[in-house]
Amino acid sequence: MYNEIDLDKIDINTEPPTEEPARQHYFMAKCRKWVKDFEQKNGRLLQACVVNMGCQMNARDSEKLTGILRNAGYQITEDERADFVILNTCTVRDNANQKVYGRLGELNGHKRRNPEMKIALCGCMMQEAAVIEKIKKSYSFVDLIFGTHNIFKFAELLWTLLASERMIIDIWQDTDKIVEALPVERKYPFKSGINIMFGCNNFCSYCIVPYVRGRERSREPEDIIREIQGLVSDGVVEIMLLGQNVNSYGKNLTNPISFAELLRRVEQIEGIKRIRFMTSHPKDLSDELIEVMKHSRKICRHLHLPLQSGSTQILEQMNRRYTREQYLELAEKIRREIPDIAITTDIIVGFPGETPKDLEETIDVVRRVKFDNAFTFIYSKRTGTPAAAMENQVPEAQVKAGFDRLLKVVQETAREQVSKHQGKVLDALIEGINENDDTMVTGRLSNNTIVHVPGDESLIGRIVSVSLDECHGFYYIGHVTDLNEQKRETGQ
Ligand code: 5AD
Ligand code: SF4
Repeated sequence: MYNEIDLDKIDINTEPPTEEPARQHYFMAKCRKWVKDFEQKNGRLLQACVVNMGCQMNARDSEKLTGILRNAGYQITEDERADFVILNTCTVRDNANQKVYGRLGELNGHKRRNPEMKIALCGCMMQEAAVIEKIKKSYSFVDLIFGTHNIFKFAELLWTLLASERMIIDIWQDTDKIVEALPVERKYPFKSGINIMFGCNNFCSYCIVPYVRGRERSREPEDIIREIQGLVSDGVVEIMLLGQNVNSYGKNLTNPISFAELLRRVEQIEGIKRIRFMTSHPKDLSDELIEVMKHSRKICRHLHLPLQSGSTQILEQMNRRYTREQYLELAEKIRREIPDIAITTDIIVGFPGETPKDLEETIDVVRRVKFDNAFTFIYSKRTGTPAAAMENQVPEAQVKAGFDRLLKVVQETAREQVSKHQGKVLDALIEGINENDDTMVTGRLSNNTIVHVPGDESLIGRIVSVSLDECHGFYYIGHVTDLNEQKRETGQ
């Protein structure tokens, strides 16, 4: 495990090792020496700030970057006026890209006031050639750029940056590499994401992810189990297994294993109380998975199952490989087998060729499935994807009207679903102090619903019984009824 390595014992005056992760440990040790020397010379600590701009995978990557920076000797801060600021970007929709350019403008202002400041960019957006060209041309104050495939090399790139004055760009087109045993600094001490696979092979026609995250690669189950055991001994009670399409986990390993089997093994790990996972593609969701979830005492009662559209014709154009009827059947089966489950989804409005009738079909699916929550997105044209070249793009006004209509229905069904739990007593993992009222804490039920209860810091990280007293649309106000988490074996 990484924690056993003492960076100060690494000889940094020799040639760097060629093997990973030893090579990155060596560069971390080199950066650490540089940072210490800086401190001695200038009488102040160097600060670093990691800004996460994307999904859970992106957030997990940010934790890895933070772990490396901390090991390199930086003080970690959320202040973007730090000496080293790295934006971990997203590019799933164009507005994510626009946010990065806005943020860069602000960072340039900070850099003018702090000549020591270094600005770095990484993540999905950096895998797009046009973006790199634009940054080189119009944002030449950026110091370091790398992508999603070589994030494991961050320590080495950081060292190159510290030792030189020029802009460093290192983008890989793809990789089959998975480097284990690098440091990670978790945002929450009691819960953690864990990558079980990287990349995506589905090529939904609107989506840029397969182009920027590469082909599917699964981690060995033994590595995943070992990482979870390490997390448990470090105080983690809830884990979220992460992948673009977790249902196809393990298919390409030398010794193939199903996602359901991985879940069975994870369930055996003592000390883990809650297991979540994200994201499931409906076309690959197996009966075996439903069986495992049904009998599990630890897998949370929540399934995120992106619908994207409720029209078979649009689904076909999207290359989703299921029909409206198949989705409905699947959702019904899941609700039948696991009645207390919450199903959430993603929906895109305004995909090329979408008619008002197609949208009505989507709305109809929302009403039938009664999603517990749905993330609705306006279609965003991503250069290089098949959908971007489709001719029948939908006029903006039609998209906007459709989006508003859908949102209303989504909110109605979500409220109805969430309010069903009024008066129940359920377990919640307390995650933090309430953002608006520091006499309250905020917790999460197994089905992912948020509940606010009176309480203090001592509850954070604990699973306690809460009474769901008042439903406020998407969340509850309640109170703790039982603090004794030892009595219960699971987080359900
Ligand atoms: N436009 C709008 N939404 C998109 N998503 C992915 N690509 C696009 C796009 N081009 C949405 C999908 C996916 C979620 C993560 O983002 O709904 O499930
Ligand atoms: Fe953004 Fe998608 Fe990449 Fe996640 S996988 S960081 S959502 S583009």
